[in-house]
Amino acid sequence: MSDAAPDSLAHHLARRILMDGPLSVAAFMAEALGHPRFGYYMRQDPFGVSGDFTTAPEISQMFGELAGLWCVDSWARLGGPAPFHLVELGPGRGTLMQDALRAAALVPAFREAARVHLVETSPTLRARQKDTLAGVPVAWHDRLEDVPEGPTLILANEFFDALPIRQVQKTNHGWFERLIDIDSTESTDESTDTPRFRFVLEAFGSAGARLIPPALRDAPEGSVVEVSPASQAVARLIGERLAAHPGAALVIDYGYRGGPAVGDTLQALRRHAYAPVLDAPGEADLTAHVDFAAIAAAARDGGAESFGPVDQGDWLVRLGIQPRAAALKRSATAKQAADIDSALARLIAPDQMGTLFKVLALASPGLGPPAGFESPDLAS
Ligand SMILES: C[S@@+](CC[C@H](N)C(=O)[O-])C[C@H]1O[C@@H](n2cnc3c(N)ncnc32)[C@H](O)[C@@H]1O
Repeated sequence: MSDAAPDSLAHHLARRILMDGPLSVAAFMAEALGHPRFGYYMRQDPFGVSGDFTTAPEISQMFGELAGLWCVDSWARLGGPAPFHLVELGPGRGTLMQDALRAAALVPAFREAARVHLVETSPTLRARQKDTLAGVPVAWHDRLEDVPEGPTLILANEFFDALPIRQVQKTNHGWFERLIDIDSTESTDESTDTPRFRFVLEAFGSAGARLIPPALRDAPEGSVVEVSPASQAVARLIGERLAAHPGAALVIDYGYRGGPAVGDTLQALRRHAYAPVLDAPGEADLTAHVDFAAIAAAARDGGAESFGPVDQGDWLVRLGIQPRAAALKRSATAKQAADIDSALARLIAPDQMGTLFKVLALASPGLGPPAGFESPDLAS
């Protein structure tokens, strides 16, 4: 490795490892995404065809519009508090909030009562959100904790999948945390002198045994299990807020229901293709599947009620995405109509985002199931 001052995230991470020892997957992920200078989200706008990935609000305006109408409906169920905080966690380009506010303008009292708060750590994306939401008074925050107290509606689309996870692996000696070390067998890339990394297991620690959910203790040797204390902390905070003030939250992400599962879901996405997760920290998006049961449980620990998760496709259909698509098509050209159909299919088809993505609702105790979650078996 070069002795020169770090000029990339890989150098910075290698120096951290030399000083402190191998990093947890969570520490590596937090640096790869959020390092103030080199972090993936801090440097660039990664969305769209020329970026690394596309999210539901970027696929179609219908997504944000229905999220906005869900907020209007939830606000009415809460008795129309005024003012109230309309919060988005990880708002990307601000597209979801823009579409949500446009749809919500159908109910002027909602728009007048809403105080918009965006929880966003990336200065690059904050600037982008400012452009998208020009004319809308917005307060930005680094953390949900910083949003003032009061009645609150929260939207979080593809936010939790970016929060750090820890991984533990079963060996014939028990559970050990997976860590990331400098690859000393291949410590430099000759052409660029860039450090390379590899997974190792903690040597003597007890973190693995502490982290493993009891239900998975007897999983077979070789199993990898993920936990996200960072996600659970945010979910608990949402739960505490909804217990203290009237409100509701919508968590939309890709992930699994039914409790902790065995499987390594950490993935890197670059230019719309999967990339090796350790190869280019800061250059690729790093995400992991969301454990919805863990998020719901943490929010309930905080005092909220949870509903779902339901499949994104089912939820959007219940909220009326098909009639909305038909309405948009009435004033569309043939090309636009075809685009609307293909966006609709992307959002709801089971072989596209329809079942991989799920929607979880959290609500103040006693509010009852929010729109799209009315079926009694969706409460927990
Ligand atoms: C995958 S993008 C999703 C963007 C948007 N919700 C959408 O659907 O297009 C993740 C967003 O979360 C932000 N983010 C990631 N980690 C964060 C953190 N710890 N706190 C606040 N925002 C974070 C990113 O900067 C980005 O805006």
